[in-house]
Order: sequence, then structure tokens, then C-alpha cells
Amino acid sequence: QYPNFAPTPPMGWNDWSYYQCGIDEQTILGNARALVSTGLAKKGYDTVTIDDCWMAQQRDAAGDLVANPKLFPHGMAYVGQQLHKLGIKFGIYEDAGTNTCGGYPGSLGHWQQDADLFASWGVDYVKLDGCNVPTKTGETDEQSYRDTYTAMSQALLNTHRRIVFSISAPAYFQGEANWDSVIRWSAQLGNLWREGADIALGQDSGADKWASIDYNYGYNVGLAALQRPGRWNDPDFLLAGDSGLSRDEIQSQVSLWSMMAAPLISSTDLTHLSPAALAVLGNKDVIAVDQDRLGIQGRIVQQGTGYDVLSKPLAGGDRAVALFNSSDRAQTVTTTAAKAGLRAAAGYSLRDLVTKQVTETTGVISADVPPHATVLLRVHSGAARGLAPAT
Ligand code: GLA
Repeated sequence: QYPNFAPTPPMGWNDWSYYQCGIDEQTILGNARALVSTGLAKKGYDTVTIDDCWMAQQRDAAGDLVANPKLFPHGMAYVGQQLHKLGIKFGIYEDAGTNTCGGYPGSLGHWQQDADLFASWGVDYVKLDGCNVPTKTGETDEQSYRDTYTAMSQALLNTHRRIVFSISAPAYFQGEANWDSVIRWSAQLGNLWREGADIALGQDSGADKWASIDYNYGYNVGLAALQRPGRWNDPDFLLAGDSGLSRDEIQSQVSLWSMMAAPLISSTDLTHLSPAALAVLGNKDVIAVDQDRLGIQGRIVQQGTGYDVLSKPLAGGDRAVALFNSSDRAQTVTTTAAKAGLRAAAGYSLRDLVTKQVTETTGVISADVPPHATVLLRVHSGAARGLAPAT
């Protein structure tokens, strides 16, 4: 069992969706500084991960990975130092096969050498992708994946550094018969796992971005039973800040990801973040739902045409309840405190975590929800805290 290096869902930023291979030291450090200056770092977005395309095409004579000197002229230890000076943790991407998805050298057969190198650079988080994993049969086979990920998990442990381990193996088995099985051993070997499709890219249309958010939500929401504290399903990056998505859509993604106790990893240009996107990413009440110490993934408790109601137990007995309108028309979504799993009480207080409005109910929970929007409530059995009890 890999140590629980991520007691709450990891939070931070990754360059991939927005920049893909268009990265360099400036891009990475510029976004890291923006995490700090926007206040997002203090709210928990504390890890910056450099995704694919950071490497030179070849290992050096000693077999060590080297950073592309044109993109990272001061090397990766320097980048790590700069991040650490900002109070940011350093994440890096590699691959369990012969080559990364972008064609750069993979870690296969270099497990300890690469893990030691990462540790020497001060790496705090490794995302290990699963492209080009050689298989015995030519088909994607589970055992080959299991062997490679086991090797890196052990190698990271051997470094004696606290390195959060993000596994991509399940993404290569999405929807297949052994998908659950791959997730189960991923939960033994690491702290989080990409379970399915890549979220849309920064240059994709708004419609494509929304479709991909809806799709990744749809798969991830069914995986609640496979998750537990320190072992997180990862439905991929947050797109808040990207063009093409409405305020309701970016709020929906962050609210739904928080309901699912998913990692909150932004992938946008943080150096040009709109006030609206910053407000959505930085909403402390929503983040608190994601980071709740019980670490329980919310589940669907009611479903209808074009809507889902999710409920997530929170420490202290409250529940987070989300009313998600996935349809293209406004609709009223109605459920009850009982359906949401609240303990029976004479009344309940509902706090809307986006508008901050507090209302009281004897049991019905209902809201008018615009298309693609999510109303996220914190439901408390009894009168609202700090308010006079209803007479
Ligand atoms: C895969 C992963 C992405 C990204 C790219 C990099 O597609 O799922 O998140 O890391 O590889 O090539």
C-alpha cells in the first residue's frame, strides 16, 4: 500500500490542457506566481505540474532524463527551487512505457534512476502516464500495466521522499470489463488515478469543452465505491478561465468536481484569469466541500430527465447537495432532505455556497436551475447556525 500522501484531494495547476507542448520555464513559473498573487495557492491550489514535452529527445550518456535545454535553460532542479521559494509543490509528468504520449523517453526499465532523479530535483508529485506500455499480446493488457506501475510505485517509495503518485493506468481501460480491477490496484499503488478521457483542450470550442466536462462527470460519478481518503478518482482538469464556457458551466464543473471529492487541478492561463473565473476557482465554501476531511465521494441520490441530484456527507453531519441541470433548458429541480440522506429534523437550513443565501425548509429542497448550471447547497439539520431558531 503506497502511503497516504494526499489525505485530501490534490489541488493545483497543470499546463497540459491550455498549453500542451507550448511550455517553457517562463510559462511554468509565470503561472506559479499567478497562483500565489491571485490567492489561489493559499486556498489550497499548491502544486504545479509540468506535463509532457519538458524533456530532451534522448537520455544523457549516464541514462538520465534531461530537460529540453531550450525550454528549461536552468534545468529542473532550478525550477523546483523557484517553485519551492513560492511555497508551491513541484509536480512532473513521465510515462510508464517506452515513450511518453508525446514521444519523449519513458521510464520503462529506468524506474529507480528516474525516481531518484526526480527526488534530487525536489519533485513532490509524479503523474505517470500509460502510453506505449509494451504488452505481451499486442493488446492493452492489464498485467503489463500492473507490473510497470508497481515498479514505479516501489521506486518512488525507495526515494524516502513524500511524493504524491498520480497513476494513469485506468484511463487506458475505461469502459472495459477490467476497468474496476485496474482502479483497485491503482488505489494500492498510488494516491490518485486518471480514470478516463482527457478533458478538452484550451483551443477547443466552448461546446466541446462543455461536452467533455459532462462526459467526464458522467463516468466519474459512477466510481464512488472505488474511492476513499487518500485514493482519489481523477476526472481531469478544471477549465475555469478558458474561453467558450459560461459562468454557469465553469461553476458547474468546480461544484460537481467538489461533490465528487475530485482533485482540483486548474489548467488554464492563470496570468490572465478573469475575475469571474477567479471567484469560481477561489470559492472557499466550495473548496471546503471538496476538501472535507471525511473524503467521501458524493453520489447521485435522484435522477430525472436532464438533471441529477447528488449528496455528499460532510464532517460534522451536514450534507452537500448539488442540483445539476445537464439539459439545455432552465428547469426546477426538486428533492427532499430525506432523499439527500439528512437525518430527520423539524427543519433544515440550506446555504447556497455560491450566492451565500441561507433559507429554511421543513424538508423540500428545490431550486430553479439555469441550463448547464449546478446549485450547490450545504444542508444542516436544524436551524441555521448563527441565526435565531425559527419560531
Ligand atoms: C495523455 C494524458 C494527458 C497529457 C498527455 C500528454 O493524453 O491523458 O493528460 O498528459 O498525454 O502527452
